[in-house]
Amino acid sequence: MSASASEVASQKHAPKIDGVLPIFLERWSARAFSPREVSKQDLQRIFEAVRWTPSSNNEQPWRYIVGLRGTSTHEKIRESLMGFNQAWAPKAPVLIVGLAKSNLSHNGSPNHFAFYDLGAACAYLVLQAAALGMTTHQMGGVDREKARTLLEIPADYEIGAAIALGYQDSPESLGNEELIKRELAPRQRKPLNEIVFSAWGQPLDLK
Ligand SMILES: Cc1cc2nc3c(=O)[nH]c(=O)nc-3n(C[C@H](O)[C@H](O)[C@H](O)COP(=O)(O)O)c2cc1C
Repeated sequence: MSASASEVASQKHAPKIDGVLPIFLERWSARAFSPREVSKQDLQRIFEAVRWTPSSNNEQPWRYIVGLRGTSTHEKIRESLMGFNQAWAPKAPVLIVGLAKSNLSHNGSPNHFAFYDLGAACAYLVLQAAALGMTTHQMGGVDREKARTLLEIPADYEIGAAIALGYQDSPESLGNEELIKRELAPRQRKPLNEIVFSAWGQPLDLK
């Protein structure tokens, strides 16, 4: 039996938790992208949200190269993806590469928080996209050397993840059994007692 995009999305939402912003629970990473384009207005909204990410020294080390379908940038990002990601991500109308400026602007010394800050900015990006009804899928599976060459990324910018952005489609649109299986698989998370401690290894008592 085939499931619609919205049926899959509601199965993928984490259970509601009183007091937790629904968008944190409802965001998930789809691989089935519909051909629907993302408007320039929504792209602007997403990157406005990114701008307001906090960063060490307020350095704002994040940079984004954005490829819209039909442009050479979309094509170059597609070519830079690893094999598995190439099987589904090219359908996304927007492919993005996140970069972190490795050195501090005021003195040129290494910014040890650049990647940390890029990750935070990407969290803002994916949550704002979800709030606008879109799906995102971050991808570490990028050939960094290829991406650096094709996208002419300067040496002092480190490549983070690529991000596919667009609207979710039905799993069947993936046209591949393994991908469909993954699209329908339940989402998994570690319990709080494995990740939040009162002292190393001792779960914080949250009751
Ligand atoms: C930095 C990063 C790299 C990832 N790399 C890939 C990837 O290369 N290919 C892929 O299919 N998913 C990739 N993912 C997606 C994760 O597998 C996914 O976020 C995780 O399983 C949790 O699922 P959820 O986002 O639906 O909650 C990546 C996610 C992140 C944050």
